[in-house]
Amino acid sequence: MTPGTHLEQLQRHAIPNRISIERGHGGLDKIIVRTDQSTAEVYPHGAHVTGFQKHDEPALLFMSRSSWFEPGHPIRGGVPIVFPWFGPREGAPAHGYARLMRWDLCETTATPEGHVRLRFKLPPSTAKNEGPEAQVHYEVTVGNTLTMELGVANTDASAPLTFESCLHTYFAVGDINTVSIRGLKGVSYLDRLDGSARKVEVSDSIRFNSEVDRTYQDTTGPVEIRDPSLQRIVRVEKSGSHSTVVWNPWVAKSRAMPDFGDEEYQRMVCVESGNVADHHLTLKPGQSTSMKVVLSSRSI
Ligand code: BG6
Repeated sequence: MTPGTHLEQLQRHAIPNRISIERGHGGLDKIIVRTDQSTAEVYPHGAHVTGFQKHDEPALLFMSRSSWFEPGHPIRGGVPIVFPWFGPREGAPAHGYARLMRWDLCETTATPEGHVRLRFKLPPSTAKNEGPEAQVHYEVTVGNTLTMELGVANTDASAPLTFESCLHTYFAVGDINTVSIRGLKGVSYLDRLDGSARKVEVSDSIRFNSEVDRTYQDTTGPVEIRDPSLQRIVRVEKSGSHSTVVWNPWVAKSRAMPDFGDEEYQRMVCVESGNVADHHLTLKPGQSTSMKVVLSSRSI
C-alpha cells in the first residue's frame, strides 16, 4: 500500500477539533490529538506516542532531535512499545519488533468527559511471525493525563505464549543533575551495568551522575520523577506491570547512539513500566492480559 493510501484510510478516523491526521517527520503519518487540557501526537509506526503536553506545562515526553523517522528504525523518544522481548536478541531487533511495525488504527473516540481515545492493533501477520498466534491491542487516552494500555491475548489453540513487554517512556526533564526518582526504595533490581547483578535499592531518592540502567523487579506501586528545574513532579501509576526500568545513557552511551544527540542525556530520563526478566509473562491458549500506565504531573 502506498503512503498516500494509508493517509486516506486514516482520515476516516479524524474527529473535528479533536483528531487530525497529517504527514509527520520522514513522511510518516502522524495523528494529532487535541483536548481542552492537552495535545498529543502519535505515529502509527510503532503506535508510538511522540508527544504529550498539557496546555499550561512544558512537554512531558522527551523526543530526540536525532531520531530516525523511517520504516525499519525505532523512533527515539516518546513511548516506544517493547514487545515481545526486552533488550537485545541475537539475529533479531532489540526490544522486539512491535516498535518497528506500522500498527492499524482501529477506532478513535471523543468521550463525553472530554478525553480522546485511540485504539490500535498490531497487524496479525506480525504477531504470528515470532511464535504462537497473539492479538495485541494498544489504547492511548489523552486528557489531563496520558493513559496507555497494552493488551495481549494468546489466540493460539494449543501453544502457550511467553513474552516480555514494556512501555519504554522517555520523560523530558529540565536538568538530569537535579532530577530524583522516588518510589523504589527497598526494591531489588538487576544492574545491567554490572552484569545484571541483583542489588537492592537503598535510596528513597535516586539521583543521576553517571549511566544508570536498572530493571527494578516486583514493583507495582507509583513512581515519581521530581524535577526542580521544570518545577514539576511527574507521577507514573500502573496496573498489570511488575517491572520498572530506569535508564539514562549519560555521556559515552549518548555519543555511541547514532539517533541520539551527545548532550541530550541531560534533558531526559526513562522510567519504563513493563513485565520483563523475572516478570516475563506466559499466557495459556485463550488467556489474555493487559498493562495500564497513567502519567500525570503537578507543579512543585
Ligand atoms: C533500556 C535498556 O530500556 O533501553 C537499555 O535498559 C537500552 O539497556 C535502552 O540501552 C535503549 O535501547 P534501544 O534499543 O532503544 O537503543
